[in-house]
This record gives sequence, C-alpha cells and structure tokens, in this order.
Amino acid sequence: MSYLLNSLIRALPDLIVLTLVLLIQGIGAVWILRKPGVRASQPARRAVLLGAAASFGLLAFAFLTRFARVAIHFPDGWSTWGRGFGIGWALLSVAWMAGMIASSWLPNIQPRHSPARRRVLRAARVALFGVPAATLAYGTFIQRSRISLREERIVLPNLPADLDGLRLVQLTDIHLSPFLSVRELEGAVAMANETRANIALVTGDLITTGNDPLDACLGALAGLRGDAGVFGCMGNHEIYANSEDYTAVHAARIGIRFLRNAATRLRFGNATLNLAGVDYQRYRKPYLLGARKLADPGAFNLLLSHNPDVFPIAAEQGFQFTLSGHTHGGQVRVEILGQDMNIARFFTRYVDGVYRQGPASLFVSRGIGTIGLPTRLGAPPEVALIHLCRT
Ligand SMILES: [Fe+2]
Repeated sequence: MSYLLNSLIRALPDLIVLTLVLLIQGIGAVWILRKPGVRASQPARRAVLLGAAASFGLLAFAFLTRFARVAIHFPDGWSTWGRGFGIGWALLSVAWMAGMIASSWLPNIQPRHSPARRRVLRAARVALFGVPAATLAYGTFIQRSRISLREERIVLPNLPADLDGLRLVQLTDIHLSPFLSVRELEGAVAMANETRANIALVTGDLITTGNDPLDACLGALAGLRGDAGVFGCMGNHEIYANSEDYTAVHAARIGIRFLRNAATRLRFGNATLNLAGVDYQRYRKPYLLGARKLADPGAFNLLLSHNPDVFPIAAEQGFQFTLSGHTHGGQVRVEILGQDMNIARFFTRYVDGVYRQGPASLFVSRGIGTIGLPTRLGAPPEVALIHLCRT
C-alpha cells in the first residue's frame, strides 16, 4: 500500500500532465464529432471514437510503464518506445488542438473566393497541422542521431601559462538505451578521440534506467582516449538506476576514474590542474557540501558536476571552471514570441553553453542522448571540445 502511495506521489506531475492531455484530447474528439460532416456519417463517427480510444490507451500505457512493476512485463524497447511515442503523441495532439482552434478563425473556403485565395486558405490549414508533425518527425528521426563536434574557447584570466591551450573533450548524458545504439555511441567516442584531447571527460548519465545496457556503454567508453587520462562524475540517472558503485568499479577496470567527491592533481609543465568531481547534486538541496576541501588554492581548479546549477557555489568555493551536462540543452527547444521555450529552463538558468561569474566560468554541454521523448529539436546532440585559454 505504501509502495503504491509513494509511487503515486512521485508520479503526480506526470499524472497532472496526463489528465490535462486527456482532457484536451476529449474536447478535441467532441469538437470533431460535432462537425456536420462527421455527425452525418456513422463510419466517420466510429473512426473518431476508435481513434480517441486508441489515443487514450497509448497515453495510459505510456504513463503506466513509468512504474517498474508494470514495465517489467514488457520488453525494454516496448516500454521505452511506448513511453516515447506516448509523449510525442501527447505533444502533437495538443499542437493539433491549437491548430484546430486557429483554423476555426480562418474563413471557410467558399466557391465565391478566388482560386488564389482558396489555395492560400488550404495551404494555411495544411501548415497548421503539417508543420508540428513534420517538426516532431525531424527531431525524432534526423536531429536526434546527428551527433556533431562542438568547439568552445573558454577564456580564464587566471589560467596558468602552461595550461593555456589545454584541450578537454567531454561526453555527457549518453543515455545508452533503446533511443541510442552502441554504434552511435562508438561513433561519438571515435569523434572524441579524433580531437586528440589532453583529457577526456564523461560527466554522467551513462544510461537512463536499470534496464539499460550499462556494460555495453562502458565497453564503448573503454575506447575513449585522453593523453592525461579519462575521468568522470556521476549523473542523476546513475542514482535512479542504482548503478553508481557498479559504474565506478567497472569503469576503473577500463581506465576511467570516476571522481566521487574526490580530486586528482594533473601536472602540465609547471602548472597543476586540480581536477575534482562530485556525485549528482540534487535540486533544492544545499549544493557542494564538503566540496570546498577538494579545491586546491595553489592550483587551477576544475570541477566536474553533472548538475550545472552548482556553478555560483562552485565559483565561491574556488573552482575557476565547472564542467556540466544534465540539461540536454533543453532537448526540445522552440522559440515562441522571442522566448526560448524548453523544459530545462524551469530548473536552472544554466541550460546550454558558456556562463561566467567574475573570473570563473561554466560550460554546459547538450550531451549525446535523449530521455522520455526520443527527440532533439533546437538542441542537437554533441561531443564537446573545450579549449582553455588565457585571453
Ligand atoms: Fe541526462
């Protein structure tokens, strides 16, 4: 009973969204059923009711598979893709509902209209419904798997001369799952190796759930190279998958050292780079408790923290540079009325790219994989190459 109650409390935000979407879809179905053409045709009415039932069924399935006790009854790919399609369909149906409202404001196409006006009205109606579907399809089937190399120069005024030009390659938010193949990850690792970086870094979220192929992910990461080594920090999904200890132990065997509230000093010429890492820092909890001692006042301090929201505290604790992921750059990001709309903005102001606070800097990579919805829009997946510079 308490398991059920706890699960429902955790699922409450999803339950609210599900209820809203079902309500919107229900209103949409009634609206279509009231159209004169549909009302007069028995097969059309039946098709609308069947479509509504299928839609409700898909959304209910997508919601229920978030519970492990339900998900175990389905093959991994089924529940992951089922949830992904459910979220995609929910978004699309809401966009179509908005399209229906907008199209009702358009004048009806009348025979008295000129052929040119009829064409424009028809094209406007097609665009209202076609553009959201085409955009979602592009983000799901094209942009999601187009991993590219992103290069960023980070200017750090206090950078020791011997660290000037140091190159860090970062892989983050891999989320190896039915949404990302081992082959795609191997491609990203090859891309990272081509940069011949000084240090290679993996900043968390190797997988999404405990059912995902963590060993395969570590197998692909075994090929990752950095002159001075390969290091990492844990993400929130390592907690959800209960895989932090397993990841640390098995990664160490393939030469990747996960810094779990720990630091290591790397020497480059006369300069020391103090590389520190912390486990995932939960939102709305005090950040970086006990991390101050990881900073070395005599060295240049770089912090690996999956969650970028720690940045102001990290800067205050003496970390001149913080490297993060977690946000996926918003994953699905659209601009509406000049406003950058994405879900990550609700959690943090550090969504994507370079941020500064005094002499300290933060870089947030969009990462490689996806969660929930197998789609990337306006936030393409990336391998990040960071050049540290004095000017
Ligand atoms: Fe992630």
